[in-house]
Amino acid sequence: MTCAIDVSHVFFSYDDFRMEDVSLQLHIGEQKVLVGLNGSGKTTLFKLILGLLEPTSGSIHVFEREVTHENLWEIRQDIGFLFQNPNDQLFAPTVWEDVSFGPRNLGLSKSEIDERVRWALEIVDMIGYEERPVNQLSHGQAKRIALAGIIAMRPSILILDEPFTGFDFKMVSNMIEIINKMRQDGVTILYTTHNRFFIENWSDSVAVIENGRIVYDGSTKEAMDQKIVKDNIGDWSGLKHLIRSFNEGIR
Ligand SMILES: Nc1ncnc2c1ncn2[C@@H]1O[C@H](COP(=O)(O)OP(=O)(O)O)[C@@H](O)[C@H]1O
Ligand SMILES: [Mg+2]
Repeated sequence: MTCAIDVSHVFFSYDDFRMEDVSLQLHIGEQKVLVGLNGSGKTTLFKLILGLLEPTSGSIHVFEREVTHENLWEIRQDIGFLFQNPNDQLFAPTVWEDVSFGPRNLGLSKSEIDERVRWALEIVDMIGYEERPVNQLSHGQAKRIALAGIIAMRPSILILDEPFTGFDFKMVSNMIEIINKMRQDGVTILYTTHNRFFIENWSDSVAVIENGRIVYDGSTKEAMDQKIVKDNIGDWSGLKHLIRSFNEGIR
């Protein structure tokens, strides 16, 4: 079966962080959640897949094309990457310029560009914001504009780094609706979250990363019973006990 993403025995290191023998496969149309504590290497792995960082050994393929300097342009057409912080992603002066940046680089005609930008802004419910400076957007608006820029490129793969952080319920529902539409079209999705609800209900499979190593990878149904998965998601209901004992102490 053709893989959308195939990470094979990848090693990488920063000064005091090592990623060791990481392998991870996503088949076409799969939605996988990558679970791991802060600092476990999730964003680093995403950057390796995008070719923003280079493995010291091992290989990464996207639709059977190796992630190398020569292939970067094509690979970045395939992948839409939503950064954890939209401010790291938006760089053009206005919303229109930002969302149209990708399509303009594809060499499309002016009317095609306009049509794609409009379509993407409509999906994220941001029509009317075209001339707004990007630095005047709220966090939620900025994230939606970042997503519009990705949608406008019609990617086959979405990589979403904590897509729901800082969102209210309505925004989360909008976002899920948008992404589910892309899933229906066969888009492959790799994302991270710390929220058990999404892990359990919004993924086909779960991979766990601990200190730069993949320590579990399996179907969501099986994953939810595994101790290693539970340990990495954490027991949020256990916080109740902590809070109660604090409250009792000050009473
Ligand atoms: N540019 C960098 N230079 C050096 N160390 C980094 C850099 N980026 C991240 N790190 C370190 O690498 C580890 C993994 O970071 P990251 O991949 O961002 O984790 P996560 O996304 O899972 O929270 C952390 O210890 C972090 O401090
Ligand atoms: Mg991260």
